[in-house]
Amino acid sequence: MSSGHLIDLNDCTVNEWEALIKLASDIRLNPHDYIHRCEGKIMATLFYEPSTRTQMSFQAAMLRLGGQIIGFDNPVNSSVSKGETLKDTIRIVSGYSDIIVMRHPQEGSAKAASLFSLCPIVNAGDGGHLHPTQTITDLVTLSSVKGRLTDLQIGLCGDLKYGRTVHSLIKAMSNFKGNSFYLISTPELSIPLYIKEVLDASGCTYCKVNSLDECIGELDVLYMTRIQRERFATPEEYEKQRGVYILDIEKLKKAREDLSILHPLPRLDEIEIAIDDDSRAVYFRQAAYGMYARMALILKMLEEDFTDSKDEKLLIMQNICSNPRCIIHSEKYLKSFYKFNESNHPICLYCDEKL
Ligand code: NCD
Repeated sequence: MSSGHLIDLNDCTVNEWEALIKLASDIRLNPHDYIHRCEGKIMATLFYEPSTRTQMSFQAAMLRLGGQIIGFDNPVNSSVSKGETLKDTIRIVSGYSDIIVMRHPQEGSAKAASLFSLCPIVNAGDGGHLHPTQTITDLVTLSSVKGRLTDLQIGLCGDLKYGRTVHSLIKAMSNFKGNSFYLISTPELSIPLYIKEVLDASGCTYCKVNSLDECIGELDVLYMTRIQRERFATPEEYEKQRGVYILDIEKLKKAREDLSILHPLPRLDEIEIAIDDDSRAVYFRQAAYGMYARMALILKMLEEDFTDSKDEKLLIMQNICSNPRCIIHSEKYLKSFYKFNESNHPICLYCDEKL
């Protein structure tokens, strides 16, 4: 990992992703070989937002590697409720642990944390922005069920605007040759600009469609997502989008026999429960693979020599980021930094918003 942290999957090379996938598969087949590999190490899980799979699969992963865990799953039980800054919490916890896994509601929070941490930070979801470890899980799943990460027709359906798993997955899969994307959403929930730019720069083919029926018959992979109620500005806006996409037995009749249906979970009503028994439903296996993916990631990250990124040359910008969901607006001491994206445009260092 180039920066020592995993904030975005781009922190690793494609070769490193492939090594992680291979390692996850070896761990799954030979778990006994790995039970002492993290003895003496401590992982902190700092979850400022709810989680079942991500948090527990990370914790189970570390315990199965022989390591120990500390942390909180509700910031109300920590000094965050007394008003402690993210900077101070990270500075302190990174002195107690060897690796920090964090989830936070603000976009760019994991990058901000990495600027102050004495140990590697793993982004387990920063608002509606990115979720790279779900993507490693998805890559492990796709490699296993499809036998390849190339030449796939991938449908992504639901909340493509706020669904961070979708953003990280598109960023990853657009690196592999021959993949094409059907972006199935309402116009209101279509992908953010920075993801569109990733797709444009990658040269992958993609199209936006309004309904599942239009494309389900073409797909190798259907990635269903939940409408992210907690990210909407008002309950009324959420209500307008709720229940728009539901995969049911009737729609599945048009799909190919070799379709794989993924979902990062939790599921609300977007996949009918009767589909769970269809051989094309892969989402429970995907959740199980998540633990092996995270075991591989923890092992790799702890093996590397961590040199903190405080010497990273950061470019200061005059204006503050215009994305209201960016961490810079809630952690006021943060400086405005920028970087350049794939198309050489300046973007916010934390949340990728275009300047
Ligand atoms: C996802 C997340 O938190 O972004 N869940 C997960 O990590 N498996 C998807 C979601 O909450 O809808």
